[in-house]
Amino acid sequence: MAPATPLGFQSVTTEYDDHSPRVEGTIPEWLSGTLIRNGPGRFRVGDQRVNHWFDGLAMLRRYAFDDGAVRYSNRFLRTEAYADAEAGRLTGQFGTDTRGWRRLISTIRSAGLPEPTDNANVHIARIDGEYVALTEAPRRVSFDPETLATRGEFSFDDDLTEHITAAHLVDDPHRGELIGFATQFGLQPQYHLYRLPTDSRRRERIASIDANGPAYIHDCSVSDRHVLLVESPLTLSVLRALNPFSEGAIDMLRWNPEQPTRLLVVDRDTGAVVSEPTFEATFCFHHVNAFQDGETIVLDLIEFPDSDIVGALSMAELDGEGFPDVPDGRLMRYRIEPASDEVERTQLYSGGMELPRVPRSAISRKHRYAYGQATDREGATGLVKVDCESATAQEWWEESVYVEEPIPIQRPGGDAVDDGVVVATALDTAREQTRLLVFDAESLTLQGQAFLPHAEPFGFHGRFFAD
Ligand SMILES: [Fe+2]
Repeated sequence: MAPATPLGFQSVTTEYDDHSPRVEGTIPEWLSGTLIRNGPGRFRVGDQRVNHWFDGLAMLRRYAFDDGAVRYSNRFLRTEAYADAEAGRLTGQFGTDTRGWRRLISTIRSAGLPEPTDNANVHIARIDGEYVALTEAPRRVSFDPETLATRGEFSFDDDLTEHITAAHLVDDPHRGELIGFATQFGLQPQYHLYRLPTDSRRRERIASIDANGPAYIHDCSVSDRHVLLVESPLTLSVLRALNPFSEGAIDMLRWNPEQPTRLLVVDRDTGAVVSEPTFEATFCFHHVNAFQDGETIVLDLIEFPDSDIVGALSMAELDGEGFPDVPDGRLMRYRIEPASDEVERTQLYSGGMELPRVPRSAISRKHRYAYGQATDREGATGLVKVDCESATAQEWWEESVYVEEPIPIQRPGGDAVDDGVVVATALDTAREQTRLLVFDAESLTLQGQAFLPHAEPFGFHGRFFAD
C-alpha cells in the first residue's frame, strides 16, 4: 500500500473570505497590519498529482491584525496554470512533467525558450505599490491585498533578459529598494543583479556576472555596500531538460561535488566584484542577512552539505513520514575578508534550521537575532531564535505542530530589536488545523493564537505590511 500523504501536502478546496477565527490568549493591540503568505494549495488534478512540493497551485493566505483580533482569507491565484487545472490539465514547472518543458523540447529548436508557467507560488513583494506573487519562472501575478483577487500579469518596465529568476527580493528599508537577480542562459550564462526602487517597476542593473554552470541560486543578501550571491555547484542544464524522459526543471539540475562553491561579493554602487572566495561544495536555499564589520563582510545563511534537500522535497519522498526525512540545514556565519579572498565559516546553532528571518530594520545592518524553523524535531517543527553574537538559542516547539516561516515584527517605537512579536502559521496535525501563533519576540513565549478554519498545506514565504 502506498504511504499516506501527510496533511501538509494535501490539497484544500475551500476559499475563506474575511473569516474571523477564534483567538486564544492575547494578540497585542499595537499589532496592526497584514501578513500575506504564498505557497502551494492544491496538488491534484483529477487522478494526477504534481511530482514536487514546489509545483502545487499558488494559494495566497491573508492574516489581518487589528485591535487584538484576526481575520483570515485564502484564495488561489487565477492563473493560466489554475485554468489548466480546472480543465483537467496538470501543468507545473519545477519537478513535474509539464506543458512548459514538453513544449520546450519542440519549440526551443525553432523559437527559443517557451512561455514559462505563471503558477507564482513562492513569495510576494510590493512593487511600485502593486502586490505581486512571485516564482522562479519569469512571470509574475498581481493581486488585490484586501480581497486576494487576481488582478492579472505583472510586467516590469525594462528589458532585462531572464530565463530563471529569483522569487526572493531583498527588501532593504534603509535604501528604499528591492534587490534581486535573474539568470540568463546562453553560451556564456550570466547572473543579472538589479535594484528596484520602491516606487518603480524599472529594474536597474547593478552588475552582470559570468556564471559557472549556471548554478541554481534561490536567494541573495545585501549589506549596505554589497550584494552577496552563493554559487553552489548545483548547475542548471538546458540540454538536460531536452532529454525526452525529463520530468521537468528538476531534471535540469546536476550536483557536482568535486567543484567548489563560489561566493560573489558585488559592490552595490559600482557593480564590481570585490571578492569571490571559493570553498568546498555546499548548497544553500536561504540567506539570513549580511552586514559590514569594519573591512570584513559578514554573511549568515542556511547551509546544506549537498543538494539532496531538493530531491527530498518531491512528493514521493514526502509521503509517509513527511518532513522528517529531509536533511537539516545549518545556520552558518561566513566572515569574508575581501583583501585576501578568505572566508571563515562557523556554525551559530547546533540544531537544524530553515526559513530564516531577521527583523526588517536589521536587513543589510548588523543583526543580533535570527528566527527560523527548528527542523530537527521528531514529529514537529519548532521555532528557534538564535542570538548570533553569543551563538546561543531559545526554542519553542509542541508535539505534532509544524511551525512555518516565522516573521519577526518590531513594536512601533520599541527600543530593543526584539521588542515585538514573532508571527508564524503552524500546522497542527493532531487537530488537523492550522494555527496562527503570536510569540513574544524577546522571550519566545506564546502570547496568543488564532485557530484557522482548516488545515493549510505547507506554504513558503510571506511578508508583513504594517498599516
Ligand atoms: Fe525560498
